[in-house]
Amino acid sequence: MPIEWNEADQVFHLYNKKVSYLIQIVYGKYPAHLYWGRRVQVLQPSSILSFKGRAFSPTTEPDDLKFSLDILPQEYPAFGNGDFRKPAYLLRTHDGSTITEFVYDSHEILKGKRPLKGLPSSYIEDDSEADTLVITMVDSILGIGLNLNYTIYRDLDVITRSASFEHLGSYAIEIHKCMSMSVDFHESNWDWLHLHGTWARERHIERQPLLHGIQSISSTRGASSHQHNPFLALLSKDATEELGDVYGISLLYSGNFQASIEVDPFDTTRISIGINPFDFIWLNKPGEMFQTPEAVMVYSSEGIGGMSRTFHKLLRTRVCRGVYRDKTRPILINNWEATYFNFTEKILKELADVAKGLEIELFVLDDGWFGHRDNDKSSLGDWVVNKKKLPHGIKGLADYIQNKGMQFGLWVEPEMVSPDSNLYRKHPDWCLHVPGRSRTLSRNQLVLDLSREEVCDFLIRTLTNIFSSAPISYVKWDMNRNMTEVGSAALPPEMQKETAHRYMLGLYRILETLTERFPEILFESCSGGGGRFDPGILYYMPQTWTSDDTDAVERLKIQYGTSIVYPAITMGAHVSDVPNHQVGRMTPIQMRCHVAMAANLGFELSVGKLSNEDKSVIVEQIRLYHQIKEIVLFGDQYRLLSPFEGMDTAWMYVTPSQEQAVVFYYKTLATPNPPFFRLKLRGLNPKLKYRINNAEHPFYGDELMQIGKDMPLIKKDYSSFIFHIKAI
Ligand code: DGJ
Repeated sequence: MPIEWNEADQVFHLYNKKVSYLIQIVYGKYPAHLYWGRRVQVLQPSSILSFKGRAFSPTTEPDDLKFSLDILPQEYPAFGNGDFRKPAYLLRTHDGSTITEFVYDSHEILKGKRPLKGLPSSYIEDDSEADTLVITMVDSILGIGLNLNYTIYRDLDVITRSASFEHLGSYAIEIHKCMSMSVDFHESNWDWLHLHGTWARERHIERQPLLHGIQSISSTRGASSHQHNPFLALLSKDATEELGDVYGISLLYSGNFQASIEVDPFDTTRISIGINPFDFIWLNKPGEMFQTPEAVMVYSSEGIGGMSRTFHKLLRTRVCRGVYRDKTRPILINNWEATYFNFTEKILKELADVAKGLEIELFVLDDGWFGHRDNDKSSLGDWVVNKKKLPHGIKGLADYIQNKGMQFGLWVEPEMVSPDSNLYRKHPDWCLHVPGRSRTLSRNQLVLDLSREEVCDFLIRTLTNIFSSAPISYVKWDMNRNMTEVGSAALPPEMQKETAHRYMLGLYRILETLTERFPEILFESCSGGGGRFDPGILYYMPQTWTSDDTDAVERLKIQYGTSIVYPAITMGAHVSDVPNHQVGRMTPIQMRCHVAMAANLGFELSVGKLSNEDKSVIVEQIRLYHQIKEIVLFGDQYRLLSPFEGMDTAWMYVTPSQEQAVVFYYKTLATPNPPFFRLKLRGLNPKLKYRINNAEHPFYGDELMQIGKDMPLIKKDYSSFIFHIKAI
């Protein structure tokens, strides 16, 4: 059993082969954090903590003046009893106070892992895969229980955490803050790394030394956002891609979040992640329970790359679900950048005809097929086919595509409503708004109020009808604005601040229902590209449109940054036209293909206008993709050269058996008279002999990793190579 309770020392030890996590109940009351990191054996865990009286640090234990919650490393700290750092939670009680006294009451150690009600969570397929510890704390005056839930996976270096309040008392309380986890490290000599960006420039990497005080990232946009990803990592100063200690935390949630780090004057570091407490208040009534989203905590002693590979495996195999979890995805063509809103059935059929000739497998009809939507000013909410554009309906087009031997996919943006729509005219109060206030538009649209049950039910009905009306094998679920005037016409004043979280619960209910009802449909989520690329959404939809920026050079940074947490199989990547629609850059078709082939390959261009030469490159690359896609989508990724550091980018994927690998190398701008260059590979079996692209001369794995692969001298901008490596 990898969770042990040492009663004498009052210490819990959660461990697997590589990781230990130690918690001590101090004074029989306070869950203190002792350790998280590489697997350890500890003879006397209770001796880990020692205290020194600190001026201005109050004590809750009159007989021990050295003790203070202000300096105790804690598991789920409160505010108001002497700890002046950022608390994990804050409640406002019926008497107006925010003082609570939750103390240890009991605990339970369980085999396996329980799902979270109404929220996404990582899962197990067999009880032997994980063990769970629930520590219950109680505030006896309020009559409220606080459960701290911990799960440790047996074969993954992952601990998951969440918290829940169970109200058994008599008066309603307000939850103003309730993080999913909090941990106090005993030192602060770390860097932190996070992913930031904006539309078309998502998930760029930033690494900074920690400073005293608070540093944090967050979203208040009602979505996890393009701007920050619900993830951060602490890195030892010497951590590289392959070496050093790395602690990554990520949140399975698609709405407002906050991840923060506080370094105190004694150089301890508190990190936490959870729902953003800003503008959030949840009314917890007697008899009700409030459950936080789940946080995933990954420890790696093998650098940033080791952390990424653990996240990849967890997300790919124990967060993503459904029939597509373990399947490669069809190569698609999407009409968006080829036509935008200007299409007819004839144009779409021509696009599909050419795509079929290029051996593309799935045709996706994007925005503009419903209502009178000829631009982005109308019709969201009116999910009725535009017969002027598609006289034979969705079914007519889908049948045509299917008869060609291709699959058919459809774009929807269900969470939105255009003011110019029948839905809005009929139900003006179905959008997020505050009565009497203006309704701020973004992309000419408003956000439907998914905190309302009837709105969610309407969407489930409408989408069920659409998805069953034609042979639809793929759905692109878009979401193109963030929330403003966040309020619900259906909630009383004291519950208005619940709207944003209730929206997420509504969205998750819709997605759970539809994905269960249509298990054969491959769902791809999208929010103007990667504005909601998070582990929560992946629980329902196993891939995300990575970015609206399809330029091959920009995509190197976006896909490299995304891979810090998310595996290739969760990323949609398309080959698009040149000059590129976002940056105007001209890149060769081969490089555009090579970038998109490092994920779920797709196309989004006017295939009819391609030269014959470009068409044959596409066919050649699609054939190559079929040979390597399983390695890319299910292999272990090693990042070799970073696009954030120079003109060269390289990454590779290795099968779990280490018998095959595929290396992608990209050169953006060529260097005149360049130095010789050997690319050092990773993840191979040092003892195996490998052939590269079937060349006659083999190499040992350690040769390729230690001495490196000799690379050609490149005299051309935007060059790229793929090396398929096979053990002999
Ligand atoms: C934003 C998406 O990211 C694009 O790919 C496209 O689907 C448009 N929305 C359509 O409005």
